Amino acid sequence: MSDLLQVTNITAGYGDGPAILDGARLTVEPGKVHCIIGPNGAGKSTLLKAICGMLTIRKGDVIFKGERLNGLRPDQILRKGICFVPQERALFPKMTVRENLRMGGYVLNDAKLRDRRIDEILERFPVLRERADQHAGTMSGGQQQTLAMARTLIVKPDIVMLDEPSLGLAPKIVQEMFDIMKMMSQEGVTVLLVEQNAMMGLKNSDWGVVLDLGRTLFEGPAEAVLADPRIQELYLGGRKVA
Ligand SMILES: Nc1ncnc2c1ncn2[C@@H]1O[C@H](COP(=O)(O)OP(=O)(O)O)[C@@H](O)[C@H]1O
Ligand SMILES: [Mg+2]
Repeated sequence: MSDLLQVTNITAGYGDGPAILDGARLTVEPGKVHCIIGPNGAGKSTLLKAICGMLTIRKGDVIFKGERLNGLRPDQILRKGICFVPQERALFPKMTVRENLRMGGYVLNDAKLRDRRIDEILERFPVLRERADQHAGTMSGGQQQTLAMARTLIVKPDIVMLDEPSLGLAPKIVQEMFDIMKMMSQEGVTVLLVEQNAMMGLKNSDWGVVLDLGRTLFEGPAEAVLADPRIQELYLGGRKVA
């Protein structure tokens, strides 16, 4: 099987609380952009958190490269190659761009390697290179999101998970963020994102996953999700059929 990551009907919740996810599943193939859509409160962020080890999985499995990740800590999962960018981006606003990149490489024990990777990233993202010594908190939303995405590359991850990367950004900037995701996926960094703007997310993705009430209702090629009349009606703002 060529799946890079497989989530099989998991059940998970916060602490001892109720199950937020129950029957959430998805398949991630290498080198593609995957988009999870669904209404507010569906459990999209919770699903990303469950994959990266922030929640206990009560039932089902998270299988990465054939290995079960259930029960591993977030830092262990990061070391295995899955990097998570939360919705609030988790930048250090009072640190410079370069310092933020350095923080992203904290799991690398080799300082020389880390510095080399920072140089590579700055080389690839001129917008960050020009601002290497600027405090991250003083940059625009798009620049901050670019930094959050670029920072993941320092660990050379297999999968980057992004929670609502387009939040609060102007449409033109959103497209730039999707272009970066596409570039990352073409360079072998598989992308799994959650997107509130379902239409835009799917149009820029290869694979779509529809999550509602903590369960996966459908997953398949993004075009198929976009073309499905039921999904259009319920999740893509389509016209309600009486
Ligand atoms: N830290 C938390 N503790 C308890 N419940 C939470 C927590 N975060 C989210 N939830 C609950 O989990 C459900 C799904 O939330 P979330 O995954 O954030 O949805 P989505 O990202 O799809 O909007 C909601 O009912 C929310 O109240
Ligand atoms: Mg969310």
